[in-house]
Amino acid sequence: MNLESILFTQGFGSRRQCRALIARGHVTIDGESATDPDADHDTNALNFTVDGVTWPYHAAAYIVLNKPAGYECSRDPQHHRSVFSLLPAQFATRGVQCVGRLDQDTTGLLLLSDDGQFVHAFTSPKRKVPKLYVATTRHPLDDAQLGALREGVLLHGEPKPIAAVAANARGDHELELTVLEGKYHQVKRMIAAAGNRCEALHRDSIGGYTLPAELAPGAWQWLDETALGLLRKG
Ligand code: URA
Repeated sequence: MNLESILFTQGFGSRRQCRALIARGHVTIDGESATDPDADHDTNALNFTVDGVTWPYHAAAYIVLNKPAGYECSRDPQHHRSVFSLLPAQFATRGVQCVGRLDQDTTGLLLLSDDGQFVHAFTSPKRKVPKLYVATTRHPLDDAQLGALREGVLLHGEPKPIAAVAANARGDHELELTVLEGKYHQVKRMIAAAGNRCEALHRDSIGGYTLPAELAPGAWQWLDETALGLLRKG
């Protein structure tokens, strides 16, 4: 692929901007200045630098972000900052979107991608991917609440009760809940319908993939083949 197209597909601006970046000497490959936008490069395992920052070439972007509280899963946020402000600008430019949404005050595992099929596969109501949340509750948890969550609770506007795949207390006020759907405020509404109140919510895993313990709040990383395999295994 020629260098202009490489930068363009990776989100470094319009074709004209990418040509200018290259021609002005901002790009290196294998430690050498790369100033010819038309020169062909093998994209397999390619790393290039732009202004001294190294980027791996990815035909499609698959990213995990440890979402902090106070960020909206939107490029056009209404009341808080956008999760995209935590990511390099080229992700938005290349069309990366959130794979489903977390509420602004929910923390934890957020996937992002520019692969439309991947986004659809993980957000489609038909494809029931388990998602594990840890909720802090206002009131102590009891067996009646856990039983209601496991058996199913009726949420406003839903035709039938929705059950958690698993609901386990990790402490008096800490609940581990696995759900298959991704309905609006689903976990908070389920906890309320079971007679408690969700005070804080964190997503820990999707499918067989768990948020890496070393990924600090606000930090992101590329998903490798192992991570993508675990996600699909769900
Ligand atoms: N359920 C909720 O209530 N909020 C989230 O952010 C995710 C799941």
